[in-house]
Amino acid sequence: MLITEIRAALGTLLLTALAFPSLYQPLLTWVWDELRDTRFYRWSTFETLWTVFWYAAIEVSLTVVFMNNPGWRFTVQEREKRPTSGDEVKTPGRAKGMKRPSRRLKEIATYIAPLLLMDLTMIKKFADVPLESMLHSGNYDPAVLTTKHHSTFLVPTLHNMTASSPLQTQRALPIGAPSSRRLVLELLTSLVIYDALFFLFHLALHTIPPFRRLHAPHHRHAEINPQITNQLHIVERLGLVLLANFSLNIIGSHVLTRTLFVPVFVWLLVEIHSGMDLPWGYEKILPQGWGAGARRHMMHHTRTEGGLAPYFTWCDRALAVASGWSGTLADG
Ligand SMILES: *[C@@H]1O[C@H](CO)[C@@H](O)[C@H](O)[C@H]1NC(C)=O
Ligand SMILES: [Zn+2]
Repeated sequence: MLITEIRAALGTLLLTALAFPSLYQPLLTWVWDELRDTRFYRWSTFETLWTVFWYAAIEVSLTVVFMNNPGWRFTVQEREKRPTSGDEVKTPGRAKGMKRPSRRLKEIATYIAPLLLMDLTMIKKFADVPLESMLHSGNYDPAVLTTKHHSTFLVPTLHNMTASSPLQTQRALPIGAPSSRRLVLELLTSLVIYDALFFLFHLALHTIPPFRRLHAPHHRHAEINPQITNQLHIVERLGLVLLANFSLNIIGSHVLTRTLFVPVFVWLLVEIHSGMDLPWGYEKILPQGWGAGARRHMMHHTRTEGGLAPYFTWCDRALAVASGWSGTLADG
């Protein structure tokens, strides 16, 4: 029942946003004009801080759900299937190895430090922003626009560091608001692109020996739980963030799409690591067979079989088909 309702609500929102953008335009224009005038939104560090905020909010919420609903936990469900299960089954509580927030300041710092460093030294190059505005934000004199500067994100430009402006503190934003159609299309496309790119990265993490050592700690845990989401080597974490950034950039996403992408992306990431069979899991909301979901990811974690793509199932299916082919070739 709940699934049907969520489906109806989300489906209506997506379809109307795609089919009738004029319906949403006044709202989007108003929101965008407000945001563009907000100091905090114009900070170069906005996205890093925004991501940390959402990560903390979502991880803590799902951890509370985890502790309060033992019946949803995969490990508890497994134990209940066995006839000799004792009375410990319904005991709510922390998973083994779960840490208190105060013990995780180092984890937060190692996440933020490299991103802040990039934010504060490099000019942000977003779609639809004129080169002059970018250069202005980077303390270059736009009057002396030389040909060596490019507005594409593929060519990074350092902030013009001077005594009066040592760091990149601002980001130049596009003037116009996006349409709801553009927003939805960019959001969905970037998630699909990210899924495929991370699949390849994750495949490397499981097959190339030095990478395997790096990825092993992510799989080292008793019961998978929301906190495992961020149990990552700094290389994996940066790879993840940069691939997400690339997925957004390569299709020229509007900055507002990026702002909405963060909570959706982080939600899905924590959900697949939640260790719970949530009645409202996103793979149950999507058409059957599209979403990978928390169970598949739990199986990837415990048995390391398949489940390399984080969010969807297409890449792993393609890999299975391809290895089936190469298997037949080898046999034949
Ligand atoms: C993400 O993309 C933006 C826009 O192209 C770029 O300016 C920024 O440096 C990137 N951020 C990171 C952390 O790579
Ligand atoms: Zn893995």
